[in-house]
Amino acid sequence: MLKNKLILLGITGGIAAYKSAELARLLIKEGAVVQVVMTENAEAFITPLTMKTLTGRPVYSALYNPDAPGHFSATVHIDLAREPQMVVVAPATANILGKLAAGIADDLLSTVLMAVNTAECPVILAPSMNTSMLHNPAVRDNIAVLRRRGYNMADPLDGFLACGEVGEGRMIEPSGLLEIIKRKFQQAVDFKGLTVLVTAGPTREALDPVRFLSNHSSGRMGYALAQAAVERGAHVILISGPTALETPPGADFYPVVSAQEMYETVMDKLPTVDIVIKSAAVADYRPKGISAQKIKKGGEMTLKLVRNPDILKEIGKRKGNIFVVGFAAETENILAHGKKKIADKNLDMIVVNDLTLEGAGFNTETNIVHLLYRDGREERLPLMSKYELAHLILDRIKENKGKV
Ligand code: PMT
Repeated sequence: MLKNKLILLGITGGIAAYKSAELARLLIKEGAVVQVVMTENAEAFITPLTMKTLTGRPVYSALYNPDAPGHFSATVHIDLAREPQMVVVAPATANILGKLAAGIADDLLSTVLMAVNTAECPVILAPSMNTSMLHNPAVRDNIAVLRRRGYNMADPLDGFLACGEVGEGRMIEPSGLLEIIKRKFQQAVDFKGLTVLVTAGPTREALDPVRFLSNHSSGRMGYALAQAAVERGAHVILISGPTALETPPGADFYPVVSAQEMYETVMDKLPTVDIVIKSAAVADYRPKGISAQKIKKGGEMTLKLVRNPDILKEIGKRKGNIFVVGFAAETENILAHGKKKIADKNLDMIVVNDLTLEGAGFNTETNIVHLLYRDGREERLPLMSKYELAHLILDRIKENKGKV
């Protein structure tokens, strides 16, 4: 699968740089052509000669170096960015993540990364650093921003760190990274020709001109699904309640506010789609009437609510050949509720969040879910980022779609 694929391997200055020599060796064994670009700091950990010997190609590190072997041009950063089919930065230090998130290009590797079009050439970043650095809010924000912009993270592992501490921050092993690289090539266009409708975020049910009923959904799960589906070549329709997130580039975006609006937009698009993923947290009820004026405070107050349309149930009724994935957010009898929803709403698959677990459900970067299938199969997944989970859900849809 990797035969003759040109992979640009960016190496930055961290102790895990020694692992990139092994990664280069594994890639070459698979038939890939590896072009190394190192930062000046990386050269303190591993020599360009090692990488040149392993890859059989000149190693680039300086932006302007007329003495560099091989081709030199003032636009070497553009040539290096246009040629590869994939870019892997391993290890990716806090510094390179920060520069990429902030748009800083002050050496060859950061300039090349800035010139890579992630829609055409996937970029995988393998962070590696001390646990405290990884948990620094600035680094966490940078990682979240980069994920949202379409960069892929090969998440670091827990373990013994070079500084002597034990914790999260170890760079993923080369063999694990190789698997991610292979999967990325496989996924590249596996949803091409398919239209995927994703709903995301909360709905807002107005009480008066200034107040509404809603929930804690941030939209992250749904936006990660939309982004992953775009990356895999699908035509993506993202119908979203109000969130603070950037729309994933490449998705057709339909902002809505209330459950009724979401219902109408979904039903309008439904005849054109192949797959529905209903990750929105839709309000089951709305106030019976919307007060035209701001409601004034007084004594006790009783709100009369009426049912909203059950969008997913209606999709289930009209589903035909559409592969329908529901979500469920539960606090008790997780699996029993999930199974009941599959049957009641005529779903092919349901993703059940256990809201009692830390790192799962609403307004988190991560999730812990069970996948339940129409035929009774169950799969429990470990804690992972919503982006990783999104790709895994798409993998499962692909595996099961033929069986609908
Ligand atoms: O947005 P995040 O902060 O990332 O959080 C993600 C999430 C927790 C919101 C998401 O992963 C999730 O679980 N979404 C579904 C939450 C929910 O509303 O569950 P439910 O059990 O109430 O609904 C079950 C399914 O029916 C859902 O697919 C829902 O979209 C759908 N539904 C519900 C009510 C309704 N009136 N119409 C619907 O279509």
